[in-house]
Amino acid sequence: MSFITADDVRNADDFLLVGPGARLTPLARDLANELGVEIRHVNGPAGGAGNRARVPGRGQPGAEALASVPAVALDDPSAPISSSNLALPPSGAMYRRGTPLAAGIDRGRDVLRSSPPAATAGSSADRVKVGVVGAGHVGAMTALRLAECNLFRQVAMVDVTPGLAAGLALDMWHGSGLCRFDTRVVGDEDPTVLSDCRYIVVTAGSPRKPGMTRTDLTDVNAAVMRSVGSSIAQHAPDAVVVVVTNPLEEMTHVMQNATGFPSERVIGMAGVLDSARFRALVGLTGVAAPSRVHAYAMGSHGPEMVIPLSQATANGRPVSELIEPTTLAAIVERTRDSGAEVVGLLKTGSAYFAPAESAASMVRAMARDSNDVLTACVRSGGAYGLVDTRVGLPVRLRPDGVDEIVTLDLEPGEIEALQAAAERIAVRVAAAAEG
Ligand code: 2OP
Repeated sequence: MSFITADDVRNADDFLLVGPGARLTPLARDLANELGVEIRHVNGPAGGAGNRARVPGRGQPGAEALASVPAVALDDPSAPISSSNLALPPSGAMYRRGTPLAAGIDRGRDVLRSSPPAATAGSSADRVKVGVVGAGHVGAMTALRLAECNLFRQVAMVDVTPGLAAGLALDMWHGSGLCRFDTRVVGDEDPTVLSDCRYIVVTAGSPRKPGMTRTDLTDVNAAVMRSVGSSIAQHAPDAVVVVVTNPLEEMTHVMQNATGFPSERVIGMAGVLDSARFRALVGLTGVAAPSRVHAYAMGSHGPEMVIPLSQATANGRPVSELIEPTTLAAIVERTRDSGAEVVGLLKTGSAYFAPAESAASMVRAMARDSNDVLTACVRSGGAYGLVDTRVGLPVRLRPDGVDEIVTLDLEPGEIEALQAAAERIAVRVAAAAEG
């Protein structure tokens, strides 16, 4: 038996043929979904050596011949479940550490669900509880995204506005049968609802208004962080905290001081959002779908944002080979200003769909122990030769927060830009800490 791995998916172009007896690992399946690589199960031997045909991409020699191969779509519910089109390994052994098996799939019984895992009463007790502080647009959407993935036992929202968190939680729960999750969603004004949370996303505080910079929010939101931080320390002393509140670097620093938690357990959400915006803007050029663009937004969630283009790829190729320099520079600039661009369009409030999905993706990565490398606002501790402050850096997140800061092979100019950014961030962070 052979296994189709994430590397096979990365090396494929538009689709990948999976022959009988070959198994797709869940990581490979997730990556195929993320990258838009179509998985085609064939009943005969897949072309090429063995079962791991690397299918030529569309327009490449041989693609039209292969296109005629009868394929059983992975998610075709009418497809006969047979040994040739089962995508699951014979046992859960191939699952990523800590990834709960989708409902109805147990080790050794290869019943493939072609739809999202159905809600199952009394889901496994090892699903943890997550919390969201602040039930504004970002908080509520984050709570919903965390519920919909059905990875958690409970999502607890808290907000000082009477009835807001409870009302939104009930509304989300009403949709649980349609969205096919059984994660309980609860809400309250009382912070004890955060008790035993393993992960807590903090979105509380004032959002920007047109014409404001994130730094204009420092004093008012620092006070909120101090209050929220002491509640978290009291009710969820083992939690990993993901801060979303702006100005991000300062609020992450204030939150760590307020909780007294180790720095690995207090991180800021910005780089995932800024990287996503860069990917989306590259996608607008047509060179690749955003899901096939990869980049790291580092530095700050603001004017000191650094996107090292040496690390940015589209369809596996350096973006600098696909997009001319002035257009790339404009994309970086627009990424840096994307938050303000949305605020200017909305007039009241700031972005929340992409920020919420970014925060939820960080919590999912930790809960799944996915070993993904994401950019997060962390204590730099001298990494990349930076001053020790809060900086957006590529990190490997594990269930207990930051496992390691990942050293990318940046160009000298990129490291200098990052060092200069950290110097400027440190001034703002120190000022906020004294506030
Ligand atoms: C943004 O950039 C809210 O900081 C968030 O849209």
